[in-house]
Formats: sequence, structure tokens, C-alpha cells
Amino acid sequence: MNQPESLATLAASVGAPAYVRHARLMGWVREIAALTQPERIVWCDGSDAEHERLAAEMVAAGTLTKLSHEKRPGSYLALSDPSDVARVEDRTFICSASPDDAGPTNNWVAPDEMRRTLNGLFSHCMRGRTMYVVPFSMGPIGSPIAHVGIEISDSPYVVVNMRIMTRMGRAVFDVLGTDGHFVPCVHSVGAPLAVGAQDVPWPCNKDQKYIVHFPETREIWSYGSGYGGNALLGKKCFALRIASVMGRDQGWLAEHMLILGVTSPQGEKTYVAAAFPSACGKTNFSMMIPPAGFDGWKVTTIGDDIAWIKPGLEGYFHAINPEAGYFGVAPGTSYESNPNAMEMLKKNVIFTNVALTDDGDVWWEGMTKEPPAHLTDWQGKDWTPDCGRKAAHPNARFTVSSTQCPSLDPHWDDPAGVPISAFVFGARRSDTVPLVSEARSWEEGVYKAATMGSETTAAATGAVGEVRRDPFAMLPFCGYHVGDYFRHWLNMGDAVAHPPRIFSVNWFRKDADGKFAWPGFGQNMRVLQWIVDRCRGRARAVESPVGLVPDYTDLNWTGLAFGADKFAAVMQARRDEWSRELASHDELFGKLGSKQPPALEAERAQLAQRLGA
Ligand code: GTP
Ligand code: SPV
Ligand code: MN
Repeated sequence: MNQPESLATLAASVGAPAYVRHARLMGWVREIAALTQPERIVWCDGSDAEHERLAAEMVAAGTLTKLSHEKRPGSYLALSDPSDVARVEDRTFICSASPDDAGPTNNWVAPDEMRRTLNGLFSHCMRGRTMYVVPFSMGPIGSPIAHVGIEISDSPYVVVNMRIMTRMGRAVFDVLGTDGHFVPCVHSVGAPLAVGAQDVPWPCNKDQKYIVHFPETREIWSYGSGYGGNALLGKKCFALRIASVMGRDQGWLAEHMLILGVTSPQGEKTYVAAAFPSACGKTNFSMMIPPAGFDGWKVTTIGDDIAWIKPGLEGYFHAINPEAGYFGVAPGTSYESNPNAMEMLKKNVIFTNVALTDDGDVWWEGMTKEPPAHLTDWQGKDWTPDCGRKAAHPNARFTVSSTQCPSLDPHWDDPAGVPISAFVFGARRSDTVPLVSEARSWEEGVYKAATMGSETTAAATGAVGEVRRDPFAMLPFCGYHVGDYFRHWLNMGDAVAHPPRIFSVNWFRKDADGKFAWPGFGQNMRVLQWIVDRCRGRARAVESPVGLVPDYTDLNWTGLAFGADKFAAVMQARRDEWSRELASHDELFGKLGSKQPPALEAERAQLAQRLGA
């Protein structure tokens, strides 16, 4: 008869600390170690001492450069391999049992076939490396809305980033107890080290990358990249792709949304969740400072990238930010565009792919008007302003704890979340889409979000600046069939007595000279105030073919010279542009087949009629 293995024997076989009492978890770690053959296993506890030790090891290995203690205390710079600088959407897979559950917007491979591929790739892939076991909670530890993940990774860079981006460490094992549920996440840079071989500063696999999700078993496997969403598996892989499937099954929403609070001069607080595609302004918007003319108004930050949204008891959706830090775009961040971000980046930051100044600080395009006379660029090369290259990679990022954000909302860590009054969907569009419009109904709002198009950015590898349909800013992040996702959203309108109003915004309209026609950044407060006032039932709107819109006089223009003619230009919905737009909507809907919700077909017909198209 087989004696069940004692917990102590199991723990000893994987070197688990005594506070780990979860047999299934330890069995899984042993299985992955047997497959990947690491040199050693380290269980991460999230302590300061652990962080210091890993950082020192990475400095010694050349992975991190310690920045000047005077300029940026507690901060480091990492330069990635030039081939590993962004998410790899074409190497991202949803391996549901049926291809119909992955849908037309995801890459699908049959689970069995993918498991064979992964077994081959992961076999002995951690040779010569340390395998870290990283326990993390998405959402406040122990909160009923939170979920636990365990990431196994052979990258110490991943460990120190996960410590900032999630609630990471020993306390997670208390939540898990002996049999709690966790999402298993396996990550390898895919670069085994031969005995005695010298490591490179940024190990990765230049030829093979796989970012794989098994939605039915809620598993994540990532191979070959050490960068951002490819490797920090709590973020896009778990909190969006896997969580969106959990939300579909359990009646909630996992969205690519920032969450902010607006406090009026009267002290009323209104919470707004806003979806924009990658590198389209979520971080900026989430910590915006109201400009002159908005005395007494305040914006506070709950999150800058992801929202988990559940129906609450008193009839409102409640949202939490599952993350605990920001992995934000550095280029373009300045005291002009985002002063709160500049303040929060003063210490304890991990910078990746920005430039290094000669005095041990960092710089990126747009940080200051005048670039420094000399820099070391993101590829470690000498850089001067006239050299013709960018000093920082366009997708260079900072990793920093939420607690350093000056505009952090007092409820950011509240396990109950905050009640949401408005959903905002924003795209990057030089033309066609007006500065702001409001949906007349939940269905019209879902239609607007579903048909959103945006110009692509450097956040993903591939072409930049092409308009593509990016439904709900979730195109690369929805873990199931996008038609089912639309249906889920339509249904969720009935899940609460007070569904949020839905708005569309576009900060990126350009004028005839190709310049941004809207000043943006803090000036977006003018639009945000209108949105909040609409939710409070005290702002006016007029009918237009593309929704309810403000007249020039409906926005507060105090402190900004922006005339009615300029406003008309950024609000314009041209018939020729919109007939192209409708054709593009049809292209998306054409891919949905029988999963096209009839309510969206009806919305499409009404829009066409209003446009006279
Ligand atoms: P991810 O982290 O990739 O999901 O992106 P994000 O949506 O948080 O992007 P972020 O806020 O970091 O925006 C990055 C880019 O948007 C930078 O190039 C900014 O200059 C630009 N941006 C942000 N807000 C505005 C705005 O109001 N107007 C204009 N023109 N550009 C903006
Ligand atoms: C995005 O691309 O939307 C990001 C950055 O937020 S990453 O974590 O790399 O996905
Ligand atoms: Mn994002």
C-alpha cells in the first residue's frame, strides 16, 4: 500500500520553508523542478533583505546598474536585450479545448499539442539557474475579491518587479493554508547556462517565445522573454487573460482600465474607470492634476492599468485594482505631462530601457525640453543629441510601488473596492472619433467600446501607428471569444441597479499640420468634469449621430484659450470618415459569425441610419 508522503518529506524535497503547508503546491514545484532542472530552488518571502540580496546579485551580474544615491535613492536601471523590449502578441496563445472558445482575435493551439511543445521547451531550460518560487496576491491579501498566484521563474529581475507590482511574499502562504486555490504560473527566460559558462546581463531566447494560457485549468506558461507583460505573469496573463475567463464564469469583469476618483469643490466623490489601449494615456489620466480654473477639484488614483469589477450589494459596480504598483511608460513623462508620476519616481524605482546620465541618473525623451549633452542610451551606447537615435526605447518603463504615488486614493487598498459611476473608453485616433461623447444607453455604450479602433503603439512588437480594432482596449488581453465577451458585457448591464454611464473620449485628434489639436494631459479635466457632472445629472448634452455631446458652452474653459472653432474641430464627426469607420466595424463583426450579439447589430443599424450612411 502506498503511504501518503508526509508534508515534511515533500517540503524537504523542494527546500520549502516550514510555513509552507500546501502539499499540492509543493508537489507542483517539484514537478516543474524535475522538468526544468534548476541549479537550486529559492522560496521568496518578499522581505527587504531578500530584495537587497537579489538587487546586489543582479548588480554584480551586470543586469542592474545602481543609480546615484543622491539622485535616485534605492533605484536601479536594467537594459534588456534589444530583441526583448515589449509584449509579443503574435507569440501569445489561448489554448482552450475548443478553438471556438478562443475566438477570432486570439492565437489558438490545441491544449495537448501545446503541452507537448511546452514540455520540450521547458525540459532542462533552467539548467545552471536559480528557480524562484514567487507567491503573490492580486488584490489586497485575504480580500474576498483577491486571487492568489504562484509564479515560478528563473529570472531574479522578475522577482524584484513582482515584489513591487503585486502583494508578494510570505503572507500569501497564510491565505493559501493547506489547500487554497492558486493560479500556477511558470516562467523561464529560456536560456539554460552551461557549466562554467558566463551569463549575459539580460538572458532571453531570441528565437522562441511562447506566452501560453490554458483558460479551463487557469494555468499560465511563459517562455523566452524577460520583459514586462511577457514575464510579470500577475499582470496581463493572470489579471486580464485568465481573470477575464473567471469573470465570464463567475459574473464579474476583468478590464484594461485605470480607476480614478474625482472630488468636487463640494466634497462629492465620483469614481470613474477608463479603458485605453497600451501606451494611450491610462497612467497619465489616472494621476492627473486639475489645471488652473478647477479650484477645489481633486483627482485621486486607485489604479493605472487593470480593474476587477464586481456587482456590489447597493446596486453599483465595485472596482479594485488587483495590482500594487505601476509598470508605466517612461518616454513622454515629465513635470508638464504628469507631475505626480515625476514625484513618485524619485526613489525606489526599477527603470528598464531608459538612458543613463553621466551622473548616475536617468533620462528619456520628453523628460526635459533640453536633452543632456551626453548619455548612455538604452543599448549601452554613447549618445549625444545629434546622433539620430532615441536615448530611451519608446516602450521603456518604470516599476514603482503605488504607495509612492502622491495622488493615491485613500481607498486604493480597500478590499471592498470603490463604486463606479462612469466607464470611459478612449482611443488614439488622429481623426474620426470626437473628443467626447456619451452613450444614450448601456447597449450603445457596449457598441462604442466593442468597435473602438486605435493607432498601435510601441507597447507591443510590430507596426506602430496603424489603426486596428481594439474592442474595449482588450484585443490582446481577452482570454476567450470576443463575441462571448461582448455578450457578457451586454448581460452585465443588468447585474446592477445603477449601471455606470458609458463615454467615449479621444485626446489624440490632429490638426491639418499633424499636430495634436487637443492640449490633453491635465486639460483632460475639462472633459472629466463634464463626465462627472453628467453622472450627477447636472450637465447638459445635445444629440448627435455618434451620441450625446456637450456644446462648447457646456465645458468649463476657465484658464484655457481654446475657442469654439477649435472645439468644433475636435468634436467633428465627418460623414466620409464615419462611413469608413462603419465598414471597419463590419470587418470586426464579420469575424464573430453566430457569436455576434443581435443587440450590437441593432446598434450598428441605428448608427448607420443616424449618419445617413
Ligand atoms: P500601458 O501601461 O501600456 O497600458 O499604457 P498607458 O495607457 O498607461 O499609457 P501612458 O499613460 O503611460 O501613456 C503613454 C503615452 O501617452 C505617452 O507618450 C504620453 O505622452 C501619451 N499621452 C498620455 N496622455 C496624453 C494626452 O492627454 N494627450 C496626448 N497627446 N498624449 C498623451
Ligand atoms: C501594456 O502593454 O498594456 C502594459 C505593459 O501595461 S505590459 O505589462 O508589458 O503589458
Ligand atoms: Mn496596459
